[in-house]
Amino acid sequence: MPTPRKNGSKPSRVEVKPTARQQQSSATQPAKGKLGVMIPGMGAVATTFVAGVEAVRKGLAAPIGSLTQMGTVRLGKRTDGRSPKIKEFVSLSTLNDLVFTGWDIFEDDMYAAASKAGVLEKDLLSQVKGRLSSIKPMKAVFDHNYVKKIDGPNVKKGKNKMELAEQLRQDMRDFRKSSGANRLITIWCASTETFIEPSAAHQSVKALEKAMKDNDENIAPSMVYAYASLKEGVPFANGAPNLTVDVPAMLELARENEVPICGKDFKTGQTMMKTVQAPAFKARLLGLSGWYSTNILGNRDGEVLDDPGSFKTKEESKLGALEHILQPQLYPELYGNIFHKVRINYYPPRGDNKEGWDNIDIFGWLGYPMQIKVDFLCRDSILAAPIVLDLVLFLDLAQRTPELRRLGIQEWLSFYFKSPMTAPGLYPEHDLFIQLMKLKNTLRHLKGEELITHLGLEYYD
Ligand SMILES: NC(=O)c1ccc[n+]([C@@H]2O[C@H](COP(=O)([O-])OP(=O)(O)OC[C@H]3O[C@@H](n4cnc5c(N)ncnc54)[C@H](O)[C@@H]3O)[C@@H](O)[C@H]2O)c1
Repeated sequence: MPTPRKNGSKPSRVEVKPTARQQQSSATQPAKGKLGVMIPGMGAVATTFVAGVEAVRKGLAAPIGSLTQMGTVRLGKRTDGRSPKIKEFVSLSTLNDLVFTGWDIFEDDMYAAASKAGVLEKDLLSQVKGRLSSIKPMKAVFDHNYVKKIDGPNVKKGKNKMELAEQLRQDMRDFRKSSGANRLITIWCASTETFIEPSAAHQSVKALEKAMKDNDENIAPSMVYAYASLKEGVPFANGAPNLTVDVPAMLELARENEVPICGKDFKTGQTMMKTVQAPAFKARLLGLSGWYSTNILGNRDGEVLDDPGSFKTKEESKLGALEHILQPQLYPELYGNIFHKVRINYYPPRGDNKEGWDNIDIFGWLGYPMQIKVDFLCRDSILAAPIVLDLVLFLDLAQRTPELRRLGIQEWLSFYFKSPMTAPGLYPEHDLFIQLMKLKNTLRHLKGEELITHLGLEYYD
C-alpha cells in the first residue's frame, strides 16, 4: 500500500513511522492457506456461486457484480488519484484458495444440482463439471415442518437437536481435515423456513442448549447449523430471511467465542432497487402513497415460498426496508400513510428468471400525484452468487481481524442484506449507498486510512 501523503507533496525520502492507527491495522492476520466454504443448501444459489468461482478461476468468465473482485476504494483526496482495488487494499483470500462442501436433503452432487436448477448453460457447466461433481452433499439437518413444500432422503438422524448439532460439528472437523483448510465459513443458502418469532428458548445460550436437548420445536434446523458453526468458531452468514442467528442466544455465543455473524436475506433484485429508489424520494422530499411489488418466479425457491409460512418469513424481510428508510415519524405528511404490499407468485415457466414488478405512487409539489413503474426481468441466482462470494471473503477478513470478530454482528456487511442485523436497539441502515459507505469506511478504518466524509471544503482553501 502506498504511504499516505499530503496532496501535491513529493514522496518523502525520510522514513515515515506508522501512525497508531496504521500500527493497529497490522492486527489483521494475512489470508494464508485455504479457506473452506461450507454451504447448507446446495440449490440454485449455491451451485451458481461455486460454478461461477470455478469458471472465473479458469478464465472462462468475469466475476461481475462482486465488490471484492472488481470494486475499488478511494483513499485520500479526490486529487490524490489513489483508488486501489479492494482485493489489493485489504488481505483477502484469492479464488484459488477456496474449497467447498455442503449439506442438502437431496443426494445430487453440485453438477447434477446445478443442471436441475437450470440457471447456467450446459456448455459452461460442462467446462466446470470436474469440480462440481466432486462436491457431494453431506446429510442435512431437516424438519419438514419448517419447509412444507419439499422433502428428501439425505437427512441425519439423532436423538435430539443437540445430537444433530454434534454430527454437524463432526462434519465440519472432518472437512477441515480432508480439505486442508485452515479457516472455515458457513453460509446458509438453504430454503426459507417457516415464520417463527423469538421465544424463551432463544433468549440465552443456556436456554438454547436446554431446548436443543429437549427437542423443542422452536429450534429451527438453521439454528442447529448456526449453533454448530459458532461452537466450532466458524463465522456464519444467513442468506435467507429465517430468524437463525438473529436471536439473543446466538449473539451471546458469537460474542463469547468471538465469531463473526451476519444476515439476513440476500439483497438482490426488487429490494435492492427499492433501497435505491426510496432514499431518492426522501432526499427530494417527494411523498409516497403506495408501493405495490409483485414477483413471479418458477424455481424451487418460488415453490417453497408458495407455502404461507415460508412466504410470511420472506414478506416480513421485504416489508421492513421502506419504513426504516422513509422515517414516517419524522415526515408524517409525506410517508405517514403508505400502502405497501409485497406478493410472490410461483409461476413455473419462468424458472430462475424472475420478474419483479413494482407500481409506485408518489406525489410532488402541492400534492400532485405521479407514478413510476419498474419491471425488473432479473435472474435471481445470477444476482445472488457474487453476494455469496463477497460475504465469504469479507467474513473471513473479519475472523482474521480481532477488532471485528469480537463484535459478533458485522453491521458493515448490511450492504448485502434485506434485513441487516444490528446491535440490539439500533435501527438498521437500508439505504444502499449509506451501506456501501459504511463498508468502505470500515476497510479504510482497518487500514489506518482517513475516513471519507464527502465534506470537501479543503479543495477550496
Ligand atoms: N436468489 C436470490 O436472489 C435470493 C435472494 C435472497 C434470498 N435468497 C434465499 O436463498 C436461499 C436459496 O435460494 P435458492 O434459489 O438457491 O433455493 P433452492 O430451492 O434452489 O435451494 C435451496 C436448497 O436448500 C435445500 N435445503 C432445504 N432445507 C435444508 C436444510 N435444512 N439443510 C440443507 N439443505 C436444505 C433444498 O433441498 C434446496 O436444494 C433461499 O432461502 C432464498 O429465499 C435467494
